[in-house]
Amino acid sequence: MLHNILLQFGPGKLDGVRLLLTAGPTREPIDPVRYISNRSSGKMGYAVAEAAVKQGARVTLVSGPVALTPPDGVELVAVESAQQMHDAVMREVADCEIFVACAAVSDYRVDQAAQHKIKKTGAALTLQLVPTPDILAEVSALQARPFCVGFAAETENLEQYARGKLQQKNLDMIAANRVGSAGSGFETDFNQLEVYWRDGGQSIEHAGKPVVAKQLIDLIAERYTRARS
Ligand code: PMT
Repeated sequence: MLHNILLQFGPGKLDGVRLLLTAGPTREPIDPVRYISNRSSGKMGYAVAEAAVKQGARVTLVSGPVALTPPDGVELVAVESAQQMHDAVMREVADCEIFVACAAVSDYRVDQAAQHKIKKTGAALTLQLVPTPDILAEVSALQARPFCVGFAAETENLEQYARGKLQQKNLDMIAANRVGSAGSGFETDFNQLEVYWRDGGQSIEHAGKPVVAKQLIDLIAERYTRARS
Protein backbone atom coordinates (compact mmCIF):
# COMPACT_ATOMS: atom_id res chain seq x y z
CA MET A 1 0.00 0.00 0.00
CA LEU A 2 2.72 2.47 1.04
CA HIS A 3 4.67 1.39 -2.05
CA ASN A 4 1.67 2.25 -4.23
CA ILE A 5 1.30 5.67 -2.64
CA LEU A 6 5.00 6.38 -3.24
CA LEU A 7 4.65 5.27 -6.86
CA GLN A 8 1.67 7.57 -7.31
CA PHE A 9 3.16 10.68 -5.73
CA GLY A 10 6.88 9.79 -5.73
CA PRO A 11 9.20 10.46 -2.82
CA GLY A 12 10.21 14.13 -2.74
CA LYS A 13 13.78 14.92 -3.69
CA LEU A 14 13.99 17.31 -0.72
CA ASP A 15 11.77 15.51 1.81
CA GLY A 16 11.97 17.28 5.18
CA VAL A 17 14.85 19.55 4.07
CA ARG A 18 14.54 23.09 5.42
CA LEU A 19 14.99 25.56 2.57
CA LEU A 20 15.21 29.31 3.09
CA LEU A 21 14.56 31.51 0.08
CA THR A 22 14.56 35.23 -0.68
CA ALA A 23 12.40 36.67 -3.47
CA GLY A 24 11.17 39.93 -4.92
CA PRO A 25 12.64 43.42 -4.79
CA THR A 26 13.56 45.55 -1.82
CA ARG A 27 12.47 49.14 -1.26
CA GLU A 28 14.92 51.67 0.12
CA PRO A 29 13.14 54.77 1.43
CA ILE A 30 14.06 58.25 0.24
CA ASP A 31 11.36 59.91 2.31
CA PRO A 32 7.98 58.66 3.66
CA VAL A 33 6.46 58.56 0.16
CA ARG A 34 9.35 57.67 -2.17
CA TYR A 35 11.77 54.80 -2.48
CA ILE A 36 14.51 53.21 -4.64
CA SER A 37 13.61 49.77 -5.97
CA ASN A 38 13.88 47.56 -9.06
CA ARG A 39 11.80 45.57 -11.54
CA SER A 40 11.65 42.24 -9.68
CA SER A 41 8.08 40.87 -9.61
CA GLY A 42 8.89 37.90 -7.34
CA LYS A 43 7.62 35.44 -9.98
CA MET A 44 10.89 33.51 -10.24
CA GLY A 45 11.40 33.23 -6.48
CA TYR A 46 7.79 32.25 -5.79
CA ALA A 47 8.02 29.57 -8.52
CA VAL A 48 11.17 28.20 -6.87
CA ALA A 49 9.36 28.15 -3.50
CA GLU A 50 6.46 26.20 -5.00
CA ALA A 51 8.77 23.72 -6.76
CA ALA A 52 10.67 23.12 -3.51
CA VAL A 53 7.44 22.46 -1.57
CA LYS A 54 6.41 19.95 -4.24
CA GLN A 55 9.68 18.11 -3.61
CA GLY A 56 8.91 17.89 0.11
CA ALA A 57 11.05 20.79 1.39
CA ARG A 58 9.97 22.89 4.39
CA VAL A 59 10.17 26.33 2.82
CA THR A 60 10.50 29.73 4.47
CA LEU A 61 10.13 32.55 1.97
CA VAL A 62 11.51 35.96 2.89
CA SER A 63 9.85 38.22 0.38
CA GLY A 64 10.08 41.84 -0.58
CA PRO A 65 6.88 43.65 -1.64
CA VAL A 66 5.22 41.80 -4.55
CA ALA A 67 1.67 41.35 -5.85
CA LEU A 68 1.70 37.54 -5.55
CA THR A 69 0.00 35.03 -3.26
CA PRO A 70 2.53 32.80 -1.51
CA PRO A 71 2.34 29.14 -2.59
CA ASP A 72 0.49 26.75 -0.25
CA GLY A 73 2.68 25.22 2.41
CA VAL A 74 5.22 28.06 2.46
CA GLU A 75 5.98 30.09 5.58
CA LEU A 76 6.07 33.74 4.48
CA VAL A 77 8.13 36.48 6.11
CA ALA A 78 7.24 39.80 4.46
CA VAL A 79 9.88 42.56 4.45
CA GLU A 80 10.50 45.82 2.62
CA SER A 81 14.09 47.00 2.83
CA ALA A 82 17.42 45.21 2.31
CA GLN A 83 18.20 45.65 6.01
CA GLN A 84 14.86 44.05 6.97
CA MET A 85 15.51 41.19 4.51
CA HIS A 86 18.97 40.75 6.01
CA ASP A 87 17.63 40.66 9.57
CA ALA A 88 14.85 38.17 8.68
CA VAL A 89 17.29 35.85 6.89
CA MET A 90 19.73 35.94 9.79
CA ARG A 91 16.89 35.06 12.20
CA GLU A 92 15.72 32.14 10.06
CA VAL A 93 19.00 30.72 8.79
CA ALA A 94 20.13 28.82 11.92
CA ASP A 95 18.55 25.44 11.17
CA CYS A 96 18.18 25.72 7.41
CA GLU A 97 20.02 23.33 5.11
CA ILE A 98 19.67 25.13 1.78
CA PHE A 99 19.64 28.89 1.16
CA VAL A 100 18.47 30.20 -2.23
CA ALA A 101 18.90 33.95 -2.81
CA CYS A 102 16.55 34.90 -5.64
CA ALA A 103 15.71 38.38 -4.37
CA ALA A 104 16.87 41.44 -6.25
CA VAL A 105 18.30 43.17 -3.20
CA SER A 106 19.15 46.83 -3.57
CA ASP A 107 22.94 47.21 -3.37
CA TYR A 108 22.55 50.76 -2.00
CA ARG A 109 20.19 52.66 0.27
CA VAL A 110 19.82 56.35 1.01
CA ASP A 111 22.11 57.28 3.89
CA GLN A 112 19.63 59.49 5.73
CA ALA A 113 16.04 59.03 4.55
CA ALA A 114 14.10 62.27 5.11
CA GLN A 115 11.55 62.29 7.96
CA HIS A 116 9.10 64.33 5.92
CA LYS A 117 8.22 64.50 2.24
CA ILE A 118 11.01 66.25 0.33
CA LYS A 119 9.67 69.46 -1.24
CA LYS A 120 10.30 70.35 -4.84
CA THR A 121 12.48 73.45 -5.11
CA GLY A 122 13.50 73.45 -8.77
CA ALA A 123 17.18 72.95 -7.79
CA ALA A 124 19.11 69.71 -8.33
CA LEU A 125 18.82 67.18 -5.52
CA THR A 126 21.68 64.88 -4.49
CA LEU A 127 21.07 61.68 -2.57
CA GLN A 128 23.95 60.14 -0.64
CA LEU A 129 23.81 56.35 -1.13
CA VAL A 130 25.56 53.82 1.10
CA PRO A 131 25.95 50.05 0.55
CA THR A 132 23.45 47.59 2.02
CA PRO A 133 24.62 44.36 3.66
CA ASP A 134 25.29 41.52 1.19
CA ILE A 135 22.90 38.92 2.61
CA LEU A 136 24.10 36.01 0.50
CA ALA A 137 27.80 36.64 1.19
CA GLU A 138 27.06 36.89 4.90
CA VAL A 139 25.12 33.60 4.95
CA SER A 140 27.82 31.77 3.03
CA ALA A 141 30.46 33.06 5.47
CA LEU A 142 28.66 31.56 8.49
CA GLN A 143 30.57 28.83 10.29
CA ALA A 144 27.64 26.40 10.09
CA ARG A 145 26.61 27.44 6.61
CA PRO A 146 23.77 25.99 4.54
CA PHE A 147 24.20 24.85 0.92
CA CYS A 148 24.21 28.27 -0.77
CA VAL A 149 22.61 29.01 -4.14
CA GLY A 150 22.80 32.53 -5.55
CA PHE A 151 21.28 34.16 -8.61
CA ALA A 152 23.10 36.53 -10.93
CA ALA A 153 21.18 39.09 -12.96
CA GLU A 154 23.45 40.26 -15.78
CA THR A 155 23.03 42.33 -18.94
CA GLU A 156 26.39 41.14 -20.42
CA ASN A 157 29.25 38.66 -19.85
CA LEU A 158 26.87 36.23 -18.14
CA GLU A 159 29.30 33.39 -17.39
CA GLN A 160 32.24 35.60 -16.44
CA TYR A 161 30.26 37.74 -13.98
CA ALA A 162 28.27 34.81 -12.57
CA ARG A 163 31.40 32.72 -11.97
CA GLY A 164 32.99 35.78 -10.34
CA LYS A 165 30.06 35.96 -7.89
CA LEU A 166 30.20 32.19 -7.32
CA GLN A 167 33.80 32.58 -6.22
CA GLN A 168 33.65 35.93 -4.38
CA LYS A 169 30.55 34.96 -2.39
CA ASN A 170 31.84 31.39 -1.87
CA LEU A 171 28.68 29.73 -3.22
CA ASP A 172 27.83 26.13 -4.03
CA MET A 173 25.84 27.09 -7.11
CA ILE A 174 24.76 30.18 -9.02
CA ALA A 175 21.85 30.56 -11.46
CA ALA A 176 22.55 33.28 -13.98
CA ASN A 177 19.87 34.99 -16.03
CA ARG A 178 20.09 37.64 -18.69
CA VAL A 179 18.18 40.78 -17.74
CA GLY A 180 17.39 44.05 -19.44
CA SER A 181 15.74 42.56 -22.53
CA ALA A 182 12.24 41.21 -23.09
CA GLY A 183 11.50 37.47 -22.73
CA SER A 184 13.53 36.54 -19.65
CA GLY A 185 14.62 37.83 -16.27
CA PHE A 186 12.66 40.60 -14.55
CA GLU A 187 8.84 40.86 -14.63
CA THR A 188 8.14 38.43 -17.49
CA ASP A 189 6.54 34.97 -16.97
CA PHE A 190 9.49 33.30 -18.72
CA ASN A 191 13.14 32.73 -17.96
CA GLN A 192 16.29 30.92 -19.05
CA LEU A 193 19.10 30.01 -16.70
CA GLU A 194 22.76 29.12 -16.93
CA VAL A 195 23.60 27.33 -13.70
CA TYR A 196 27.24 27.13 -12.63
CA TRP A 197 29.17 25.40 -9.89
CA ARG A 198 32.92 25.23 -9.29
CA ASP A 199 33.73 22.45 -11.74
CA GLY A 200 30.67 22.34 -13.95
CA GLY A 201 27.41 23.81 -15.09
CA GLN A 202 24.13 23.16 -16.83
CA SER A 203 21.70 25.15 -18.97
CA ILE A 204 18.00 25.32 -18.22
CA GLU A 205 16.27 26.23 -21.43
CA HIS A 206 13.82 29.07 -21.98
CA ALA A 207 10.39 28.19 -20.53
CA GLY A 208 7.73 29.42 -18.14
CA LYS A 209 9.15 30.27 -14.70
CA PRO A 210 7.37 27.31 -12.99
CA VAL A 211 9.04 24.89 -15.47
CA VAL A 212 12.44 26.56 -15.06
CA ALA A 213 12.01 26.53 -11.26
CA LYS A 214 11.22 22.81 -11.21
CA GLN A 215 14.39 22.03 -13.15
CA LEU A 216 16.44 24.31 -10.93
CA ILE A 217 15.10 22.61 -7.78
CA ASP A 218 15.89 19.16 -9.29
CA LEU A 219 19.45 20.35 -9.94
CA ILE A 220 19.79 21.86 -6.45
CA ALA A 221 18.52 18.60 -4.90
CA GLU A 222 21.03 16.59 -6.93
CA ARG A 223 24.02 18.81 -6.05
CA TYR A 224 22.96 19.20 -2.41
CA THR A 225 22.61 15.40 -1.97
CA ARG A 226 26.02 14.89 -3.60
CA ALA A 227 27.63 17.56 -1.35
CA ARG A 228 26.23 15.92 1.76
CA SER A 229 27.39 12.38 0.92
O1 PMT B 1 11.30 38.58 -9.64
P1 PMT B 1 11.22 38.35 -11.15
O2 PMT B 1 10.54 39.50 -11.87
O3 PMT B 1 10.62 37.00 -11.48
O4 PMT B 1 12.71 38.34 -11.72
C1 PMT B 1 13.59 37.34 -11.34
C2 PMT B 1 15.02 37.88 -11.09
C3 PMT B 1 15.59 38.41 -12.41
C4 PMT B 1 14.97 39.01 -10.04
C5 PMT B 1 15.86 36.68 -10.53
O5 PMT B 1 15.86 35.63 -11.43
C6 PMT B 1 17.29 37.11 -10.19
O6 PMT B 1 18.16 37.16 -11.04
N1 PMT B 1 17.56 37.44 -8.89
C7 PMT B 1 18.81 37.99 -8.43
C8 PMT B 1 18.88 39.45 -8.77
C9 PMT B 1 20.13 40.12 -8.25
O7 PMT B 1 20.03 40.93 -7.39
O8 PMT B 1 21.25 39.67 -8.75
P2 PMT B 1 22.74 40.29 -8.38
O9 PMT B 1 23.61 39.73 -9.45
O10 PMT B 1 22.68 41.78 -8.22
O11 PMT B 1 23.06 39.66 -6.97
C10 PMT B 1 23.80 38.43 -6.83
C11 PMT B 1 23.25 37.61 -5.67
O12 PMT B 1 23.51 38.27 -4.42
C12 PMT B 1 21.75 37.36 -5.72
O13 PMT B 1 21.55 36.02 -5.30
C13 PMT B 1 21.18 38.35 -4.69
O14 PMT B 1 19.98 37.86 -4.09
C14 PMT B 1 22.31 38.43 -3.68
N2 PMT B 1 22.41 39.72 -2.95
C15 PMT B 1 22.70 40.87 -3.65
C16 PMT B 1 22.85 42.06 -2.96
C17 PMT B 1 22.69 42.07 -1.55
N3 PMT B 1 22.80 43.20 -0.86
N4 PMT B 1 22.39 40.93 -0.90
C18 PMT B 1 22.26 39.76 -1.58
O15 PMT B 1 21.97 38.71 -0.97
